[in-house]
Amino acid sequence: MTIFTIDEVKKSFTNGELKEEILKGVNLSLREGELTALVGASGSGKSTLLTIAAGLQPASDGKVIFEGKNMTTMNSEQVRKIRASKFGFVFQFAHLVPFLTVEEQLMLMLDVSESKIRKREQNKEIDKILKLVEMDHRKNAYPSSLSGGEKQRVAIARAIIHKPKVLFADEPTASLDSKRSKDVMLLIRDLTKTLNITTLMVTHDEEMLSFADHIIKMSDGQVLPSLT
Ligand SMILES: Nc1ncnc2c1ncn2[C@@H]1O[C@H](COP(=O)(O)OP(=O)(O)O)[C@@H](O)[C@H]1O
Ligand SMILES: [Mg+2]
Repeated sequence: MTIFTIDEVKKSFTNGELKEEILKGVNLSLREGELTALVGASGSGKSTLLTIAAGLQPASDGKVIFEGKNMTTMNSEQVRKIRASKFGFVFQFAHLVPFLTVEEQLMLMLDVSESKIRKREQNKEIDKILKLVEMDHRKNAYPSSLSGGEKQRVAIARAIIHKPKVLFADEPTASLDSKRSKDVMLLIRDLTKTLNITTLMVTHDEEMLSFADHIIKMSDGQVLPSLT
């Protein structure tokens, strides 16, 4: 089932007199429970597309349809609510809050997402997710005592603790060595499947493509005909 559709999305930025079209009418759809990899040269518009899909910035033209609703016609509060409750995010760096423990990072996310998980269930849920990312033994640790790979595992746990429908990951392995990249990639794939999340992941890493259900290639603001 298609959960997400990008329909003729365009994005332009004006730089002084110059108007530059970064996305030139992009179409793609994401199916529920699948991992889609978005690849393409640096500057081809991958991050721009991901942030528009996730409601972090508006498109100049076109539609973003999530669960049958057109997000491009919603007001910013409606978009914020969807983003906070239905989407999860992972970036190249973990961006953990330095003065919060691993467990507290996840609690904070439950607050921000206005999660429906009842207060007394929250600790159990946090334990469960930390187990899934194999970080349950570090639940009281602060970010400064974690390795890069461990931080990224916590960032992934934080991205899914509120049970999002869609996970947006922008180069989540770019700052890791190849062994840790593979571990993180396998983790993202397994979570996509076990929790039935729909994942859109930007990656530069050719090796990671074998883990994806679909590969979408971008070039110069357009999606090229499908590879898989
Ligand atoms: N806010 C912005 N203002 C002006 N230009 C931008 C902005 N965001 C992105 N761009 C430009 O859009 C192009 C695509 O960027 P991006 O989507 O980050 O590419 P990618 O993620 O594929 O490397 C780049 O040339 C970048 O400089
Ligand atoms: Mg990018």
